[in-house]
Amino acid sequence: MIKLTSIQKEALDIHRNVLIEAGAGSGKTTIMIERFFKLLAENPTLDPQHILVITFTKLAAAELKERVQHRLVTGNHPLSPQREQSLLNVLHHLSFSTIDGFCATVLRDMPLLAKIDPHFTVLSAEESALRRDDAIDDTLRQLAHATDTHYRTLLLYYSKSQIKRFLQSLSSSQAPALNNNTQQETLYQQALKSSQSDSDTQVTTQSIQWTKALLYINEKVQKLYQQTKNQDGCLDYHDLLSKTNDILMHQDARRYLQQRYAYIFVDEFQDTNTTQWELIQRLCDPFSPFSPKKLCIVGDIKQSIYRFRGAEPYLFKSLLTTSYPDHETRIVHLSDNFRSSPPIIQCINNLFSSLLSTGEHPIPYTPLQSHQREPSNSHTPVMTSFLPPESCLDDECESLTHWIMTQHQSGTNWQDIVVLCRKRAPLIALSQVLSRHNIPTHFHGETDYFQRQFCIDIIALAQSLRHPHDTMTVSGILTSPLFNLTYDDLYVLHHTDNSLYTTLSLLTKQSYPPLWATLEQHDQERIQYAAKTWMSWVDRSCYEPIHTVLIDIIHSYDSYSMDDLSYLIQHIQTIETITPSHAEQWRQFSLLPYQSSRYTQKAASAIGVNLMTIHQSKGLEFHAVAIMNGHGRFNFSKSDSLITTSHGTCLSPAAVDEGVNRLKHDLIQKLQPEIIAEEKRLFYVACTRAISALLLSGIMPKHALNPECPTCFIDFIRMTPGMETLPSFRPSSCLNERNQLPLFQTQPDPSPLSSEKQVSEKQAPSLFKTAFSSTDVPSPVMFSVGDIELILSCPKKYHQRSLLQTLQSHGKESIDAFRMTAIRQGMMHHHAVSYWIRNNCTTEAAINATIDTLSPYKSDPIIQDELHQTLSEFLNYNNQETTLTEWPFTLSIFAVNPSFLYRISGRIDLVSITDDAVTIIDIKTDQVDQKVLDNRVSHYRTQMLLYVRAVSEAYNRPLSKVTCQLYFTHCRSWKKIAFTASDIEDLTSKIQNIDLNKKSSSPAIEVCNTCPIYKVNPLCPEG
Ligand SMILES: Nc1ncnc2c1ncn2[C@@H]1O[C@H](COP(=O)(O)OP(=O)(O)OP(=O)(O)O)[C@@H](O)[C@H]1O
Ligand SMILES: [Mg+2]
Repeated sequence: MIKLTSIQKEALDIHRNVLIEAGAGSGKTTIMIERFFKLLAENPTLDPQHILVITFTKLAAAELKERVQHRLVTGNHPLSPQREQSLLNVLHHLSFSTIDGFCATVLRDMPLLAKIDPHFTVLSAEESALRRDDAIDDTLRQLAHATDTHYRTLLLYYSKSQIKRFLQSLSSSQAPALNNNTQQETLYQQALKSSQSDSDTQVTTQSIQWTKALLYINEKVQKLYQQTKNQDGCLDYHDLLSKTNDILMHQDARRYLQQRYAYIFVDEFQDTNTTQWELIQRLCDPFSPFSPKKLCIVGDIKQSIYRFRGAEPYLFKSLLTTSYPDHETRIVHLSDNFRSSPPIIQCINNLFSSLLSTGEHPIPYTPLQSHQREPSNSHTPVMTSFLPPESCLDDECESLTHWIMTQHQSGTNWQDIVVLCRKRAPLIALSQVLSRHNIPTHFHGETDYFQRQFCIDIIALAQSLRHPHDTMTVSGILTSPLFNLTYDDLYVLHHTDNSLYTTLSLLTKQSYPPLWATLEQHDQERIQYAAKTWMSWVDRSCYEPIHTVLIDIIHSYDSYSMDDLSYLIQHIQTIETITPSHAEQWRQFSLLPYQSSRYTQKAASAIGVNLMTIHQSKGLEFHAVAIMNGHGRFNFSKSDSLITTSHGTCLSPAAVDEGVNRLKHDLIQKLQPEIIAEEKRLFYVACTRAISALLLSGIMPKHALNPECPTCFIDFIRMTPGMETLPSFRPSSCLNERNQLPLFQTQPDPSPLSSEKQVSEKQAPSLFKTAFSSTDVPSPVMFSVGDIELILSCPKKYHQRSLLQTLQSHGKESIDAFRMTAIRQGMMHHHAVSYWIRNNCTTEAAINATIDTLSPYKSDPIIQDELHQTLSEFLNYNNQETTLTEWPFTLSIFAVNPSFLYRISGRIDLVSITDDAVTIIDIKTDQVDQKVLDNRVSHYRTQMLLYVRAVSEAYNRPLSKVTCQLYFTHCRSWKKIAFTASDIEDLTSKIQNIDLNKKSSSPAIEVCNTCPIYKVNPLCPEG
């Protein structure tokens, strides 16, 4: 049982407000719990749910509940047996929550007052970012069509993707909502002020013009974002707070809530921002928040780490320095530490007494007094592990693994060990290394099912199959637990003149990269196995349904329990059922992580080494703590293209002319001391989590220390005298052997040809066989029909090579996304027709039934009417004793350069086959009217030519017997396209001549008269 110190007891005075300011581990949270019990014991009628306890993270709220439960179960509390039972009954309904969680509860109770949809959904950070992105895309597209002058102004100097990034950072979830004119005005004024310091007036004028243009566009984006949220009944983090504040403006509602929440506790107050504090004050008494005496506020300014979210540590400071009537409020300062062992406290005091109290934003530091006994066991409590500068992340992960094993061997449970890091990425790498060593891990923050590591791996695998030339994605998947390749393996694979894709495909044919001989034989076998497996999946994914491929993959993946995976498999099957188009299935699958937090499943109470960011670890404690990536550089530019929150925007012509953004540079200079001060506090939070062991890990930076501007945690350590005497951790060599084989080693080698059997002749005639059966074909370069269209029709200025690079890397995603939104509505027509055909529907009644299956669109009469019309058209086709079928195909064409084979994959919407002829039917959903239809038809010639060529080869019909029909759903018209043999020859020769080696040079900046996004939009019909 905990015996409180006399100062701690002072904070239990329940007849006054209390403000507790104290260092880490001094028992602040403990006092809150003690106070909670005391209130219940001394107020027999007080409902436990009427004590509102606000914490900063969900994890901290859960931990508080656990602490209360523990006290109840162990009988360590002052409550009567009846009171104990009543508290146990409502344990899961206690009002312990984060502030946004609390707001959501209030809004669910009073949706009408807040004027919101009673069934509103709360958007996760990822979901709101995705919606904002959509709003940005849609706005830019509208502005492009309207040849908007603001947009044009920016486009003269910035690319569309740069502008998109600016807008993203302006409207990112961390920045306060900018849809409010005052804030825009402030930003603008600040930009103006920053610019005025610049001597060059032209620079100033232009900066302001750009800032204005950007803010103008941003306003439109915000409006659209708000509109879509309203339409779908969604609220984001800012909405939750502002709508609750609105409710609290109503007198009756406020009174009700004030009565309901008789007592309010706020933990980690140092990270509360002004909006949140306003809300809390309204729950007390808006004019005199301390007079109802219901507040217990707890914090530590040294642990303020959410400045980027608008936290105001000085808010807490001002509360602490206010003088209150003695009968009303008590302020308590504590300097004890009950958490960490004396050697750890000694190290923390040494580090932070000098770090925190120096620099531009000093905080007075009172040394912590340890109340723990000296550790009895012989291990060294504080150690460093700084690897030589030439080491890599993989080396650091290996070293950490050894330390974790040492801790475990000396009796610490896996779940009592934590590895903390400023960022998530190094933790992901570590989790992979740990799983290679069979060490269980618990990755925190994966509350979303689709954010869990195995989902991320499998979805990334799907992406690598869809974009096999995307080196980054493929490298990522090869080092994931699916294949378990190491960074050394990757080095060998990359150390050639070939692309990674080519290297992998050469490997399957026993042709090796130059460094191959440096590998041990078992490593060679491992890599070769990975290459073969992945290549065979790439092949299968070209023509097999997504569920067949992915379910095969998942079934051979034995690291995770089937219980976990069954939900994913169920989803894959649903996607396959409701999304007939092959390419769209793969796209839908890769979007799963962004779909919804509806699928939230709390990560099982995993018994494993905890991996979490330092922000997530706030308020928690662990026996052994390692802080990794000590060399990770602070983000002085905040990684945003703009610095927005309260510091103005800084678009500058200098950035364009000289590659240096002076305005931004100036602002960063001003911000730098604030950033360093916050990083010190972050480091303090991390170190103070440790109970009995602390490891500081990282790679020694190459740069010399500049005490004026430290750039990483290791610099903090280098700045502190005495830290060099800390012992360093030396891994023992016995753990060097990797004791886990790659996952697929034990699985039979799936033959690339095995899937052919599963594809029916009628569905996919024999084209792709020729590509596989010839023994020494070069490895194919894969394209979709759409890619070929883009390459062949791209503007001359757009060099093929750079277009290809764009296609093959991230650019393709953005082009896809660009197209996707435009054809979202059209997609439905394809789905409807495809569903209807596959279910062999031959009646009028089946049309309505088909439309009914597309449930999201049922309510829109215009779309329904269009769909009805389209399906009726095809019903007529069906009556003519033809067979209608969808047809996925793969077409191979050898390039003029014999080392290239272009494999083109596509899917024809419908093929109508009679004994005599084959007709290709393609459904076009463009919003065009009758008058311009002929023009539009010419737009599709390349695509249709490819279809004709594929069909004539596959069905072995002469060209004259293959016809081509386009059906335009918007104006309900059929258009026939006729081709000659020379058209086909011409196309083939164009494809054969695509030169992948053509040198690129970036296209000159040029804005076409009719379309301001010419240089970034290869789809522009004018281009
Ligand atoms: N009087 C006490 N005697 C013994 N142990 C105590 C006492 N008060 C608190 N502790 C223990 O000290 C540890 C730290 O307490 P607690 O988490 O409440 O500190 P904190 O000030 O909230 O820390 P942080 O600033 O990290 O949130 C806990 O394990 C708690 O059980
Ligand atoms: Mg605490």
